[in-house]
Order: sequence, then C-alpha cells, then structure tokens
Amino acid sequence: MPAPIRKAVFPVAGLGTRFLPATKAVPKEMLTVVDRPLIQYVVDEARAAGIEHLIFVTGRNKHVIDDHFDIAYELEATLRARGKHGALKLLEELRPTAGTVSFTRQQEPLGLGHAVWCARELVGAEPFAVLLPDVLVKAERGCLAQMIEAYNERGGNVIAVEEVPKDQTHNYGVVDVAEGDGPFFDVRDMVEKPAPGTAPSNLIITGRYILQPEVFGLLEAQETGAGGEIQLTDALLSLMKSQSMTGVQFDGKTYDCGSKSGFLAANVAYALDRPDLADELKPVLRELLDAR
Ligand code: UTP
Repeated sequence: MPAPIRKAVFPVAGLGTRFLPATKAVPKEMLTVVDRPLIQYVVDEARAAGIEHLIFVTGRNKHVIDDHFDIAYELEATLRARGKHGALKLLEELRPTAGTVSFTRQQEPLGLGHAVWCARELVGAEPFAVLLPDVLVKAERGCLAQMIEAYNERGGNVIAVEEVPKDQTHNYGVVDVAEGDGPFFDVRDMVEKPAPGTAPSNLIITGRYILQPEVFGLLEAQETGAGGEIQLTDALLSLMKSQSMTGVQFDGKTYDCGSKSGFLAANVAYALDRPDLADELKPVLRELLDAR
C-alpha cells in the first residue's frame, strides 16, 4: 500500500476577476451555492475522503475563509441562548477540529503552480491532494475518495479527468491516455488549451490532483509559462518523466464554478437536490423556461 494521503491543499489566493464586482471584497471561494460557500463543499469532499489536515493557500482579502472554519463565538453563544440547536449542530458538524487546519499566504497571485509550491513546508515529504475550490463535483461518492482508491491500487500521481464535447477542448488542459482498465488509465501526455482540432483526446483535467512531493522541486525550478504564471500542468509534465500519472474518469457531474454559467448551474442543480427547496423551485424554473 502506498503512503496514505493525509493532507489536502486548497489554493484560494486567486483574484477571481471573472466574478467582479462580486469578488471585490468577497473571495470567489466564499460565493454561495444554495446556502454554503464553495470552499465548504470541497473541504467536505476532502474530509469524507479521509483527509486529516487542510492547508489553505490564501492571499490578501481572504481572511473570511479563516473565519469560516473557526468557531464564531458570539454567534454560537447567541444561537445557544436562543435555543437554535439545529443551526448550532450544523455549524459544529461542518467545522474541522482545532489544529487540523493551516493557512499560508501566497503573497502574490503568480499562478496555480506557485500557489501549490507555497504549501511545501506545510505538506513536507509526503504525497498530498490538491482540490480547486471553484470546481464542484456532485457525486454519490466524492471525487477525491474515488481518486484515493486509484492511488491505493497504483501509487504515484493521480489526476481526475472527464469527457467534454470535442469542440470545447481548447478551453482546458487535455490529456493523452493509454488504453486503461475500467475508470483508471495511464496518462501519456498533457496539453494546456490545445488549438481547436489538435487535442489528443476529449478528456480534460478537472480540479483534483494527488501528487508526490517531488512536484515541489519542479515547481521551484520552473519558469513562468502561459499568462506569465507558474502553471501546475508544466510541473506535472516534468513529473511524468520519472513517475507514473494515473487518470481517473470519476463518477459524478462537474460544475465549473469559476465561470458564471457553471456557478449558476451548480446553484440550480444543488437546490433541486434539496427536499426543502425542490418543490418550491421546480414550478418557478418551469415558468421561467416556458416564458423564453
Ligand atoms: P482560477 O484561475 O480559476 O482562479 O484558479 P482566479 O485566478 O481566482 O479566477 P479568475 O480567472 O481571475 O476569475 C483556480 C484556483 O486557484 C487559485 C484560485 O483562488 C482558485 O481557487 N489560485 C489561482 C491561487 O490560489 N493563486 C493563483 O495565483 C491563481
């Protein structure tokens, strides 16, 4: 059995420019899907997969993320005094245990690869997970739990991949894969945003990774790539020269909440799943659609 995956890194230092003005004072990761912030969904996914230590790579203006995972002392005292036990219990269940959460600052938003590199001292010399908080995966069994199953079988590095229509591959990182067995396969190559018609497949990299600690040395040595940023994909390409990279085609539906349409779709999809909201929401949605 390979070394266990105990730690997860959440890069939350980006500027969220696609959501301005909403993200001027509120971090993108705190935007709400139904009644909880995006970051809560990915933290829950990580905890459900057995992750013991949560590492947030934050930046300026992001302190509400720290507050969100802390005790809200006055609020909770008031809820207790007013007998709001349901709300209190919910807050307690969603809050990680004291001492299992760490924060470090990226200082400058120099790209996803750089954000991951900023976690190197907190991760140390062990394999770890990376979850992008703006990618929600709605699944019976969490996406990271499915990846850890692949990792326990194959070791090395693991990335989540999913199919998109061929005409959309130019928007994503695309993988070239060898024949696999079931939902796991060897990744042979990766291309960041291939020109239309040149993608090696229609499998794109989603926002979940299990990485070996050697990635930190590669990120350290790396020059800036596309967009003047340190790209994680470039480091993964180097890593693949000496280590295995498994793609996992997971069961579940992804919502890219970094885009407005994906974020809105996630709100509708998660709301329709909620027994307390679905009955009220369905006729409203039908009426809106019929009127178009
Ligand atoms: P994105 O590229 O989707 O986020 O990064 P962004 O840069 O904040 O958004 P836009 O494109 O300007 O709207 C994916 C994740 O990586 C983090 C982001 O916070 C987001 O959760 N990230 C990105 C960092 O932590 N640091 C960076 O330098 C870049």
